Amino acid sequence: MKAYEWARERTGLDQIWTALMERKIPEARGWVGLLYTLGSATMMIFTVQAVTGFLLATNYVPSPDHAYDSVRYIDSQVLFGRVVRGLHHWGATFMVVFAVLHMMRVYFMGSYKYPREATWMAGVGLLLLVLGFSFTGYLLPWDQKAYWATVVGTTIAGTTPFVGAMIADILRGSDGMGPRP
Ligand code: HEM
Repeated sequence: MKAYEWARERTGLDQIWTALMERKIPEARGWVGLLYTLGSATMMIFTVQAVTGFLLATNYVPSPDHAYDSVRYIDSQVLFGRVVRGLHHWGATFMVVFAVLHMMRVYFMGSYKYPREATWMAGVGLLLLVLGFSFTGYLLPWDQKAYWATVVGTTIAGTTPFVGAMIADILRGSDGMGPRP
């Protein structure tokens, strides 16, 4: 307890806790109350994604030569591999859906207004991260769908005026699809 007191006095840890966890929100029950759980649902899916993603990574090989086969291997040989992959696949879709639903709830209820402007801005960052994970993760199976979806996505980004070529290069890691030369 002494260590906690020492840290609390010097870092203001409890204020961070109060700001994050104990801020009052308007009371809402029933169907409207359910809308307040969308953020936690997104958080929950993120946890599922982190755990299943970690498990998949133990058997996945991130190279154009072996990625496709390693995914087939996970599907057919690894114990519960298909289940873990299925959870990760659907989790990825639902995480985007829930993050957007949650954002719509925040928008339509005006919850982004004072004093939560910074929370909204942090949310914009999180949404970009979620979309980024979703876009990059889609390529990993390295099958036809993954390959061409990434060709299309990076080509669209490449049509941005002036900085397009640079953005496409950054997204692809080189001037074409495939490993870094
Ligand atoms: C990874 C994605 C996200 C996660 C895990 C997440 C999680 C949460 C959680 C658990 C809450 C509290 C409960 C609730 O209101 O549902 C919350 C509130 C909030 N979120 Fe998110 N969020 C995410 C994305 C976003 C996005 C995209 C925005 C908007 C651009 C946003 C803006 C806000 C705001 C303004 C609040 C405060 C609402 C209030 O106090 O009534 N969040 N978020």
